[in-house]
Amino acid sequence: MTLILGIETSCDETAAAVVADGRVLHSSVVASQVDLHRRYGGVFPEMASRQHVLSILPVIDEAMAEAEVDWGDLAAVAVTYGPGLAGSLLVGVNAAKGLAWGRGLPLVGINHIEAHIYGNWLLDVSPPRFPLVCLVVSGGHTELILMTGHGQYRRLGATLDDAAGEAFDKVGRLLGLPYPGGPAIQEAALTGTPSSFKLPRAWLPGTYDFSFSGLKTAVLRIVRKYQPQADNKPADKPRVISSQTPPLIRVLPVANLAASFQAAVVEVLVEKTCRAAEECKAKTVLLAGGVAANELLRAEMSKRSPVPVRYPPPELCTDNAAIVASAGFFRFEAGEQAGWDLDVVPGLRLAEHKEP
Ligand code: KG4
Ligand code: ZN
Repeated sequence: MTLILGIETSCDETAAAVVADGRVLHSSVVASQVDLHRRYGGVFPEMASRQHVLSILPVIDEAMAEAEVDWGDLAAVAVTYGPGLAGSLLVGVNAAKGLAWGRGLPLVGINHIEAHIYGNWLLDVSPPRFPLVCLVVSGGHTELILMTGHGQYRRLGATLDDAAGEAFDKVGRLLGLPYPGGPAIQEAALTGTPSSFKLPRAWLPGTYDFSFSGLKTAVLRIVRKYQPQADNKPADKPRVISSQTPPLIRVLPVANLAASFQAAVVEVLVEKTCRAAEECKAKTVLLAGGVAANELLRAEMSKRSPVPVRYPPPELCTDNAAIVASAGFFRFEAGEQAGWDLDVVPGLRLAEHKEP
């Protein structure tokens, strides 16, 4: 049995986990900073890194204790070194380096996007079959990836502007919902009608790319119609209000807008992923990243896909370190090891495999 300690601090979750053979979860501890950042409506980078400094060692201790393993039982320490917030990544990378060096363990550097994909190896079923198409949708990324083997990736398409999760977060804010917007919109949409508002879909024909900024602007325009307009009339001249005058403040139909927005995002994600699966003759479709926790996306993808669809449980879709430990196992098995000069790479991309 090969045990890997995973460490993740790329954004606003401080996480550590112990995973056996890339597939069996022994522990997964996540200290979420969501409450800290909620009042800013998004992640406040400097606060995130300071909070990581406070949480990192207790979180690692807890993950080791929960897994009931000693340092000598570990085969390696895997850590996310990008993409993400520089100040946040530095805390995890330096903690991993210090611990690995101190305990004489190999260090493995992991790409956060790859970690999300490997959440699909942590399921209690047979491993996904290659070639596969994976839709990675999170707060920072929207990418459609063809994976032909472990560590072998080809990017089929990506977002041209906002990431899907970012669009959920921004629209959530427009609708007055709490941060993060994704789960809040999903919940608000439960009582709404998806066909209430005709919202645009950016199909970008002939590509596997995505765009969500037009959709976000369309929601903004609707929200503005519901906001009270500045009244320029002098205060001493009372306005004549006829019986036809609409009320100045109309209540924003949050549930209907949330449902219409969610349906628009999901329709494009499902359509493009299924088309890619057909054209690439994929054997499996994987969902990964925070937005993969979305129930409508899971249900629609499963309904429409020509091949079996898999996705991790919600707690392994959003940021955690079990996915880092899983990806770390496969990299370690392939003989990869990082040097003590491992640096953070905030803009790291998934290394593309060139077809022979
Ligand atoms: O993967 P993740 O935890 O962090 C990044 O790597 O970005 O993803 C967080 C994103 C947020 O934008 C959040 O709104 C979105 O995932 N999210 C969801 C849901 N749960 C989380 N979006 C839609 N539906 C959900 N149920
Ligand atoms: Zn993530």
